Amino acid sequence: MKLGLRGKVVLVTGASHGIGRAISLAFAEEGCRLALASRTQEALAAVTKEAEALGADACHWVTDVTDPDQAEALAEASSREWGRIDVLVNNAGGGLAKPFEAVRNEEWEHTVNLNFLSAVRLSRAVLPMMKEQKGGQIINIAALSGRVPRFGQIASNAAKAALINFTESLAAEIAPYGIRVNAVCPAAVFNDRWQERLLRYGKEHGLPPEQAMAELAAKRIPLGRFGRPEEVASVVVFLASERAGFITGASILVDGGMGRTVSAP
Ligand SMILES: NC(=O)c1ccc[n+]([C@@H]2O[C@H](COP(=O)([O-])OP(=O)(O)OC[C@H]3O[C@@H](n4cnc5c(N)ncnc54)[C@H](OP(=O)(O)O)[C@@H]3O)[C@@H](O)[C@H]2O)c1
Repeated sequence: MKLGLRGKVVLVTGASHGIGRAISLAFAEEGCRLALASRTQEALAAVTKEAEALGADACHWVTDVTDPDQAEALAEASSREWGRIDVLVNNAGGGLAKPFEAVRNEEWEHTVNLNFLSAVRLSRAVLPMMKEQKGGQIINIAALSGRVPRFGQIASNAAKAALINFTESLAAEIAPYGIRVNAVCPAAVFNDRWQERLLRYGKEHGLPPEQAMAELAAKRIPLGRFGRPEEVASVVVFLASERAGFITGASILVDGGMGRTVSAP
């Protein structure tokens, strides 16, 4: 399928690892121009190199998206560098595995800031340019836990739910300008945190990591395996393309079937 994304300018937050890295490289393969951001210079530089090796033009900016000034500076620097922004992917985020009574005020603030307000601010920052261009795409990486709360992580559940609701509201408001806004909701996509959880689970049950992974996947994930970052990235790239031109305000699960509503036979 031809996606027609060659030359588009794509800004990706949280681009240095995991899903954000995979998204960045997937857009690089489509011939996009990339503006990449995260807090770690070394890891960002490595992804920039990987993108360039795929033939893409790429720049990066060390940015903590929880800082409103840095987020605004990122949008400005990207549009100055490339002259436009066609796609914004608000991917930076992360869970907080704590029950309600254990979450301190500053943890609530950080979690909401990272998973929700950073996307609000960056969307606001790129909107004037997208309106002037008469089009653009905003894609928010939310989570299954924003739709079906995950036990024991109330703050990130609530922040991701806000992000999904924001996606729907903003999509309706800015549809007349030809700007689409969608969310992608992953679950159980393998990353460093899952690696730690698996090691813990393995220790508790006396299992080597591969067996712990297989057992956990068989118990919890209908497809019986963990997801790969690339499987989220391909949905994001599709949503950014005109092939998805009639999709806006959607939140698409990429979760191996974990968010299913059919009860077991
Ligand atoms: N993996 C899953 O199963 C899963 C499930 C549900 C939702 N998600 C969502 O998917 C997105 C990506 O998750 P992932 O699994 O790829 O996580 P990850 O491997 O931990 O990567 C997170 C990325 O965000 C960046 N980041 C973290 N805090 C940042 C900040 N304040 N400012 C800028 N960048 C920041 C990190 O880079 P630096 O450390 O360099 O800043 C890193 O590149 C997140 O929004 C997450 O909530 C993932």
